[in-house]
Amino acid sequence: MLPSGMLLRVALRTSPAVLLPQTSASTFIKYCMRGEGVRAFERCLSTTVPRQAQVPDTQIRQPGNSDVTEKQVDVKTIKAVFGDGTTSTYPHVWLRENCTCKSCFNSDAIARLFLIDDLCLDIRPNDAQVKGGNLHVEWSDGHLSTYTGKWLHERAFTPEARAKRRSRYMLSRVRWGSGFQVPRLNFQSAMEEDQVLLDWLVQLEKFGVVLVEDAPTRVGTINDFIDTLGFIKSTHYGQDYEIINQITPNNLAYTGSKLGLHTDMPYYEYPPGTTWLHCIRQHEGKGGANVLSDGLNATELMKEIHPQHYATLVTTPIYFQDKGFQIYDFDKITKTTTIELDEQGKLKRLHTSSQSRDSIMDLTPEQILAFYSALKTFNNTLYEHSIEMKTKPGDILVLDNSRVMHSRTAFDPSTAKGPRHLHNAYIDWDELRSKRRVLQDKLGVSLT
Ligand code: OGA
Ligand code: ZN
Ligand code: ZN
Repeated sequence: MLPSGMLLRVALRTSPAVLLPQTSASTFIKYCMRGEGVRAFERCLSTTVPRQAQVPDTQIRQPGNSDVTEKQVDVKTIKAVFGDGTTSTYPHVWLRENCTCKSCFNSDAIARLFLIDDLCLDIRPNDAQVKGGNLHVEWSDGHLSTYTGKWLHERAFTPEARAKRRSRYMLSRVRWGSGFQVPRLNFQSAMEEDQVLLDWLVQLEKFGVVLVEDAPTRVGTINDFIDTLGFIKSTHYGQDYEIINQITPNNLAYTGSKLGLHTDMPYYEYPPGTTWLHCIRQHEGKGGANVLSDGLNATELMKEIHPQHYATLVTTPIYFQDKGFQIYDFDKITKTTTIELDEQGKLKRLHTSSQSRDSIMDLTPEQILAFYSALKTFNNTLYEHSIEMKTKPGDILVLDNSRVMHSRTAFDPSTAKGPRHLHNAYIDWDELRSKRRVLQDKLGVSLT
């Protein structure tokens, strides 16, 4: 490692010996280590690039909001001032990599052609000009780039601009507890009207649960609905499955037993993003209802009230398993923590299910004891802030399986005239968020 601020004397073939600051020196060493020698390095730093024809500023007009009106070039960045008075600073290295010209970016595929392999970290502009609201840069590697004001404005690095784009990626979630009224929506209008479908997607992303009402009681209805959104998520139970009593069930769902609060398929490395429960026929007597609880709310409560238990659930890995036969023999095992966090320490996904949590544990007895205390407290918190609903034929209960936990109260199949019958399928959040963005663009809706 070269000491900070140290200069390195390098003899280049086409230019006299030059003094390079430390970053350039280490880049030079990297080029040499990659066997590319000084040639590539010279290209990166070269100041003897062909001069670009002057960009004529033919448009004399009032600047638009996203037009670049001024620029300031610094050692590592260019700061742009826009027509709306906002400013943003763009690193040279980012600008160079994201050049939008045909040889750097394929606008049909919406994919970058320019490779990180060819990116010089010490890239800098030999010249930068603002013309017609756009920024024109002549780079030290000889490349010429034009960035439209609109393009730069859309990619501003200010906290406000970043927050706006974050909500396009993922809408902010709203916590709920007991007393929560599940958003409801009519099946037919969601199938037919884009605006209703968008509202539905937004509610599902915000609250993690929506009840679709008045759907046909035909098996396959949820498949039709999911087809309008994207692809079904298949599992070892198939594309979809029917929750109906079986004499030799390969899953507790096919019995009248109570199911505790759980997320579906925690034994999958990538469990389904959403779970859909379509009521074809409900159990007529006592039981067969669904208890729902917001895992986001319970997780936050755990963090506030039981930080020790919260830490245990975030850090203790456990196994989940599912073994049996449906379409083929399956034997699934995953290892994960109950609470999975994202890079900002926010809830990413919950994994819990008494029925499929493995008795095999890769933990010490002390860790196991701590885990049980934490899980029991979490389970109590979930029930304490839950709601209960019993779906009726034609209802489709759609749940965010990464966040909202569901359970089923026990029922006695022998007491009913006909069997309780639900139809279940899954679709991932990739498809649903993608559909939400497509509809937002189609309808011109911006959301926070
Ligand atoms: C399941 C399930 C709910 C129900 O099968 O995973 O949650 O109401 N079923 O039967
Ligand atoms: Zn380019
Ligand atoms: Zn379930």
